[in-house]
Amino acid sequence: MRVSRRDFLRTAAALGAGAAVVPYAGVLEPVWGRESGPQRAFRPVVISSGNGLRAVEKAMEMIREGADALDAVIAGVNLVEDDPEDMTVGLGGLPNERGEVELDASVMHGPTHRAGAVAALKYIRNPSKVARLVMERTDHVLLVGEGALEFALMHGFKKENLLTEKARLAWVQWKETLSNRDDYLPPHGPEDRDIGEALREVIRYYGTITCLGLDLQGNISGVTTTSGLAFKIPGRVGDSPIIGAGLYVDNEVGAAGSTGRGEANLVNCSCVFIVEQMRAGKSPEEACLEACKRIVKNNKMRRLQDEEGRPNFNVRFYAINKAGQFGAAEIWRSGKFAVHDGTQARLLDCAYLYERRQSR
Ligand code: GLY
Repeated sequence: MRVSRRDFLRTAAALGAGAAVVPYAGVLEPVWGRESGPQRAFRPVVISSGNGLRAVEKAMEMIREGADALDAVIAGVNLVEDDPEDMTVGLGGLPNERGEVELDASVMHGPTHRAGAVAALKYIRNPSKVARLVMERTDHVLLVGEGALEFALMHGFKKENLLTEKARLAWVQWKETLSNRDDYLPPHGPEDRDIGEALREVIRYYGTITCLGLDLQGNISGVTTTSGLAFKIPGRVGDSPIIGAGLYVDNEVGAAGSTGRGEANLVNCSCVFIVEQMRAGKSPEEACLEACKRIVKNNKMRRLQDEEGRPNFNVRFYAINKAGQFGAAEIWRSGKFAVHDGTQARLLDCAYLYERRQSR
């Protein structure tokens, strides 16, 4: 009898495995790569974070027309970078604590094992395109800040204000509720007592988009792009532009990308770890779960733990392998990932380690 992943996780929870690591349930089983005559034909796949449904559709459309996976995944995430309504990426991304939008991105091209990245890049809405140019038009992998901006302008990118009105208002709300011991005040009436409470309403996102693709030639590439931690300290760089942390591709094995608390990936080199787990025989979903467990094990600071010692933050991983298998997993159950397996674009539940108890 096949047990669905949802049933399996429910059963594990019912057994009182509140902090138990949930093993791979083996539901995701597409092995698409197959021999066809003397040529190995690949059935393509594209995976992305939950905000990447349009990205996987676009990337798959291009891959079906014969595009290289890197062209396809970058074109996919460009749609989200250009969307002012997505406040985690590109235009409209939430700014740093000064109200400046600072973007991070990386790309990695499997067939040539090259990578490019930019960090703390201001005024350019498509950092993924600049990251690609770093890969193709410099002898370097990572450019940051002013240097990255100068490089982008040199290549004809347009400087623009990326702070939309919606993002500006979110920033003002954050600033006004940052502390109830400073001089900023949120809107309030004469009867409001503890206006610091409003802080709880302000979410500090680590939103990002990652997109990984396997093309018809069997080549794998990936991209991760983000506005990073909302209201971050200016100059803070997360995992997204760091090859091995927020993105990694090995054309012989597979690729991994991540969203969520970047600091956890920076100290665990999570994406290269996932690819190495797949090289050792783990499925993409199993490998993503292993990376979650590694973060839990290495998360030693009390301030980053809940009452039961579990991380008080979330990190989510996405992976594909050379055979076209895919999977995603996160520490805390919270969301979905997007995938296009050549038949249709879908949102699927991520596997996870822990589930929050329902609040009353
Ligand atoms: N993972 C996105 C960030 O931490 O910046």
